[in-house]
Amino acid sequence: MGTVSSDLLGELAGLRKTLEYHNQRYHQLDDPEITDQEYDRLFDRLLEIEAEHPELVTPDSPSRRVGSPPLNSFVQVRHEIPMLSLDKVFDQQDLNKFDLRIRKRLGDTGELEYSCEPKVDGVAVSLLYEDRVLVRAATRGDGSSGEDISHNVRTIQTVPLRLHGSGIPDKLEVRGEIFMTRSGFEKMNAQATARAERLFVNPRNAAAGTLRQLDSRISASRPLTMFCYSVGLSEGRELPSRLSEVFLKLEAWGLPVNPDRRTVQGIAGCHRYAQDILARRDTLDYEIDGVVIKVNSSRLQQELGMNARTPRWAIAYKFPAEEVSTVLKDVEFQVGRTGTITPVARLEPVFVGGVTVSNATLHNMDEIKRLDVHSGDTVILRRAGDVIPKIVKVIKERRPADAGEIVAPQQCPVCGSDIEHLPEEVLIRCTGGLFCPAQRSQSLLHFASRAALDIEGLGSKLVQQLVEEGLVSSVADIFHLDADTLAGLERMGRKSAENLLAAIAHSKDLSLARFLYALGIREVGVATAQALARHFGRLQAIMDADPEALMAVPDVGPVVAGHIALFFAEPHNRKVISELLAAGIRLKEADPESAQETPLAGQTYVITGTLESMSRDEARERLQSLGAKVAGTVSAKTSCVIAGPGAGSKLAKAEALAIKIIDEAAFLALLETAAS
Ligand code: IVH
Repeated sequence: MGTVSSDLLGELAGLRKTLEYHNQRYHQLDDPEITDQEYDRLFDRLLEIEAEHPELVTPDSPSRRVGSPPLNSFVQVRHEIPMLSLDKVFDQQDLNKFDLRIRKRLGDTGELEYSCEPKVDGVAVSLLYEDRVLVRAATRGDGSSGEDISHNVRTIQTVPLRLHGSGIPDKLEVRGEIFMTRSGFEKMNAQATARAERLFVNPRNAAAGTLRQLDSRISASRPLTMFCYSVGLSEGRELPSRLSEVFLKLEAWGLPVNPDRRTVQGIAGCHRYAQDILARRDTLDYEIDGVVIKVNSSRLQQELGMNARTPRWAIAYKFPAEEVSTVLKDVEFQVGRTGTITPVARLEPVFVGGVTVSNATLHNMDEIKRLDVHSGDTVILRRAGDVIPKIVKVIKERRPADAGEIVAPQQCPVCGSDIEHLPEEVLIRCTGGLFCPAQRSQSLLHFASRAALDIEGLGSKLVQQLVEEGLVSSVADIFHLDADTLAGLERMGRKSAENLLAAIAHSKDLSLARFLYALGIREVGVATAQALARHFGRLQAIMDADPEALMAVPDVGPVVAGHIALFFAEPHNRKVISELLAAGIRLKEADPESAQETPLAGQTYVITGTLESMSRDEARERLQSLGAKVAGTVSAKTSCVIAGPGAGSKLAKAEALAIKIIDEAAFLALLETAAS
C-alpha cells in the first residue's frame, strides 16, 4: 500500500465518473461513445489503483460491478415503509369495477388519470440511495423485511451506483423489478447447452436464482436488468405530484424506467393500453404477466390509502398465464411422413397462453431423459405467444407412486417394422417406408397439400380411411379412385365424391416445382423444389442428375443433394413417378434458361404478427422461392411488410417509414399472381 497523492485521488474520481458515464451510454442509452478496448483500458487502470489502495474502494466504484468474493450468508433488512402487493383483476368488468370503486370513494371526480405500466415478471427489489450513492439493495421478502442483495445488484450494469443531476432527495428509496431479458436468457441458456450445463426454466427463475447467489461474481456474468416503478422513502426534497413526472425524474437521475409505460385518461384509456400491450406481448424483450394501473396523482393516492396489504389506488390486470402446471397422462409415439418417430405428451387439458392445450411434443428420447419425465407426472407447460407448447419442467415432488417410465418403442407403433436409431441424430425412425400406413397416410396428405397438388377435400380423415380400407397405397392410386367407391365411404355422399374427383382431375396439370415438392423428398421444401425446377427445367434432367450436378443449384448442399439422388435411385420411387405420369399428370416444364426469372427478385419482405393460412416459415419459403429476401427487421430497405393480427413494433416502424403494408389476403393474392 503506497501513500496517496492528491493527483491519484483526482485520477481515481475522474476514472469512476468517466466509467459510469460510458457505462450508461452503453447499457442504458445504447449509444456508446468509446470502443470496448478504450473502456477496458480505463477499467483496468481503476482496478490497478484500487488493488494498490484497497482503502480507497467505495461502494459506488464501478469496480464493484465485477462481483466480489462470496458472502457467508444474507443479512436481513427492514423496509421502513412496507413493500406492498397488488390486488388483481382478470377481466374488463372487474377492471371497470376498480375504477368505479375508487371514483366513488373520491366523491366522483370525473375521469381519472392513470399511469399504466407492464407488469414485469421478475423479482421486486428496493434500492436505497443516500447522498446519491447506492448504499443498499434488498429483496421484498415478506413485505416488512427482506434480504440484503447489494453485492448482486451492484453487478447490474443498468442500475446506477451513483445518481446524477439535480433535485435528488438526500435519502431516496426506489422500488422496481429486476428481471432477465428474453434475449439475454436465450443467449445464456444457449451457452449453458454448449457447455452441457443445467438450463434455467424461464427468465423469472433465472433472475430469482441469480439474486440468491452469495457469490456476486456469478451474478456479474448474468444478463440482469431492472425497471423502477415506484418510490418508497424519500427525504430532503419534494417529489413531483404525479407519478408520470416522478418517472421522468428517476430517468433523469440515471435510473432505468420502462419505456413502454403510458399516462392515459379514464378507464377506457387503460383498456386501450392493456390491449396494446397484450398485442405486443410477444415482441417485448421481457416477460410480463399483465399490466399495472395506478392513479397518477399522488394526492389522490394518499386520499385513497390502502387496505391491509394492498394500495387502493393500484390494480394488476392479469393476462392469461404463459406457464401452467398440468398432468402428463401418457406419451404416444407418432410416426411422421419420413418415418421419424416423435414422442408426444398427452396432457390433462389446460388453458395456457390464451388457448387450451392437450398435447405437447417431447421432440425425442434425449429430451425425455433430460426432463426425466414419467407418465403421471405433474409438469410445467409453457406457451408464450404463438410458439408451440413445451414442457419445461417436471415437478418431481408431485410424482405419484405408480408413475411409469417412458421407454422408446423397439418396433414401429403403427406397422410393427424395426426401428432404426440414427447414429448421428437423436431421432428414431421406422424402417417400414411406404409399407407403414402412417408414412403412407402422411405422404398422401403431403402430396395433396396446398403447396403440392392442392387437392381440395383430401384431408386427414379421408386419407386415413382410404389407407385403412386398402384403397390407396401409393400416391398414384389417387388417380384411379371412382365415384362409386368414394361415395360408399363413411361421411361421403355422392356430391362430395364427385367434387373430390373433379379436384383430383384438376390437380393433374401442375408445375414441375409443385410436383417435385409433392414427392416428399427429404429436406426438399417449396423453395428448394422451385430452385431445382428453375435450374434443370425438366423432370428427367433432375432424375438423371448426380449429387455434383444437383449441388450446382443455389442452396442445395451435399446433404440435400444426397437425399435427392438417393430418392431417384430407389426403383420404387421411379415406379411411382411413371405411374403418376401414366395416370395423366401433365407437368409444365420449361427450358432451364427461360425459367431463370424470379418475380420478386430484389425485393425485401418482413413478416410480422400471425398468419392463418400458413406458418411464418412457410411464408418465408414461399417468398424466397419467388426470389424475394425476407428480413427480420424493418428498415428503409424494406419493400413491403406483411402484417397479421398481433403485429407490433415492426408494423409501427413500417408505418413510421411509410413502407407498404399488406394483410394476409393481399399476401395470398401476391403469391398467386407471382407464381403464375
Ligand atoms: S407496483 C404499491 N408496478 O407485481 C405498488 N408492481 O403483485 C406495488 N410488479 O411485488 C407494486 N411490475 O413485484 C408495480 N410496474 C409495476 C410492476 C409491479 C411488476 C410486481 C411487483 C409486485 C407485484 C405485485
